[in-house]
Amino acid sequence: MVQYRFQTHSAEETSQLAKRLAAHLLPGDILAMTGNLASGKTTFTQGLTSFFEIKEYVLSPTFTYINEYHSEQQDIIHIDAYRLSSGEELIAMGIWEYYDSGAIVIIEWAEIVAKAIPEDAFGLNFRTIEGEENGRDILIHSPRALELGL
Ligand SMILES: Nc1ncnc2c1ncn2[C@@H]1O[C@H](COP(=O)(O)OP(=O)(O)OP(=O)(O)O)[C@@H](O)[C@H]1O
Ligand SMILES: [Mg+2]
Repeated sequence: MVQYRFQTHSAEETSQLAKRLAAHLLPGDILAMTGNLASGKTTFTQGLTSFFEIKEYVLSPTFTYINEYHSEQQDIIHIDAYRLSSGEELIAMGIWEYYDSGAIVIIEWAEIVAKAIPEDAFGLNFRTIEGEENGRDILIHSPRALELGL
């Protein structure tokens, strides 16, 4: 695992960072996101989908658990595990089929379903920066070295 650390100072900057990462992603990559409410997980996901020219607006799928986005370039599966109780629940929902589908799979609240996340997934941790309302600390654990333009 290689670790990259960023600080962003607006939602737009977080979205830009997501686009930089998106340029290095491959079909089948899994992004396991952790971090508190409103720390930027969905904002980052919106940056990813816009890189792949997915036109639909990406909402936090908290009430549906799984949203599927399709584009000519790349399918994306966006999962919000906030209301799930365990990895077993995600497995019962068919997560392995998504992993094998060639889609990029993004999972918010990955810590809740940790047992259903492969070891070679990307780990993205989001944290608010104390004393800076729009500041976010974003830590990326990558299974391979990336040129993210640090
Ligand atoms: N640097 C920043 N990066 C990302 N979002 C930011 C930043 N600064 C302010 N914001 C705001 O913080 C909020 C982040 O919300 P978002 O839905 O992305 O969080 P989340 O981690 O997905 O939350 P949840 O756990 O509820 O799903 C948005 O309203 C966004 O505009
Ligand atoms: Mg969210």
